[in-house]
Amino acid sequence: MLDLDFVRSNFPAFSRPINDGQSFFENAGGSFACRQTIDAMTGYYTDLKVQPYSEFESSARAGASMDRSRVRWAEALGVEPREVVFGPSTSANTYVLAHAFAEILEPGNDVIVTNQDHEANTGAIRRAADRVGCTIREWRTDPETGLLDISVFESMLSERTGLVTVPHASNIVGKENDVTSITALAHRVGARVIVDGVSFAPHTLPDVAALGADVYLFSLYKTYSVHQGLMVVRAGLMAELPNQSHYFNDSVADKRLNPAGPDHAQVASAGAVLDYVEALHRHHGGAEGDGLRAATSAVSALWREHEDSLTPMLLEALAGRDDVRLIGPRMLDATTGHRCPTVAFSPLANEPEDVAHGLVERGVQTSSGHYYAARVLDGVGIDPDRGVVRLSFVHYTSRADVERAVAALDDVLG
Ligand SMILES: Cc1ncc(COP(=O)(O)O)c(C=O)c1O
Repeated sequence: MLDLDFVRSNFPAFSRPINDGQSFFENAGGSFACRQTIDAMTGYYTDLKVQPYSEFESSARAGASMDRSRVRWAEALGVEPREVVFGPSTSANTYVLAHAFAEILEPGNDVIVTNQDHEANTGAIRRAADRVGCTIREWRTDPETGLLDISVFESMLSERTGLVTVPHASNIVGKENDVTSITALAHRVGARVIVDGVSFAPHTLPDVAALGADVYLFSLYKTYSVHQGLMVVRAGLMAELPNQSHYFNDSVADKRLNPAGPDHAQVASAGAVLDYVEALHRHHGGAEGDGLRAATSAVSALWREHEDSLTPMLLEALAGRDDVRLIGPRMLDATTGHRCPTVAFSPLANEPEDVAHGLVERGVQTSSGHYYAARVLDGVGIDPDRGVVRLSFVHYTSRADVERAVAALDDVLG
């Protein structure tokens, strides 16, 4: 069982006066940073804030810290360091990817996108596909549940399919999609698959190799780390995608898909969250010599177990009411025993904005809106301009936090 006191002692935000009497439920927007991340950023800015990779000590150490982040993240995700790309954000990474794919897709190719995606994983790809003359085919969600049916996807695939983009979990619906089956089906017809893991990775740091994705993206600032996007591009595809950086960076793996240039301090600090993961692993009986992938997997299992013990409280509080429409699964999945704790609902008798305001007044830090998932809301018949209220939590959330949210919901909704 996850030792929550130990977990929370690693997050300075919990002991700051600004959060006294508050419960944080906007984690899908951005998580708190762990102490290791904050220390790494402070350390970099204090000692190493110079151009990296030169001979003098501060510069050499700055470069070594950047390399360490790449190597550590590669190990945690089960891939090679040359497959890891750090960029300004996931939206920026998909924008660059879209431009690269536009050079290898052909007119007449089908590009399959979903309407369950955050706009970051679909907008730029749709525009690129359009420019090339590809046919954009939308794998649509069920209008009631907001879920994707994999048999529909299977029927859309053909030898024309060049590219597929899917979310590992939507930032509104909270259902974990079966990425392993999706990638296996797509690869059978020779298509590439881009998976948006932004709403999944904060709950389970994935074994990217096992998932079979050609590209896997997530945002480090939602996984207790720095404000960067991390993108894994598997080696075969990396070799095929044209360079998007300066011509002389063509053979530099970590630069060819980041024309913005690296944010040195953040890249150097990006790996520190994995020191937290290792500390957590050891605290829960993990051995010193366990590799980072094994530690990451064990810690992710602890995170999931903790979250899944709390999610039903929130789901029951909402699913039992006839004055709200809960989006996504109403209970944990019967097969996986999991549901991402990203819980969105549409209040039927009140405005989402007013409900969010009432929750904030009661110490529940949340918000309302469409969260850049306007197509998801459209798909289930909710006006994106009206939006939904979203309560999202992660492994550092306590039972008392969820109890506060449930009591506040009862109070505000009446
Ligand atoms: C599911 C999902 N995908 C992509 C993004 C975009 O990430 P970024 O803010 O790093 O561009 C977000 C951001 O909220 C998201 O929730």
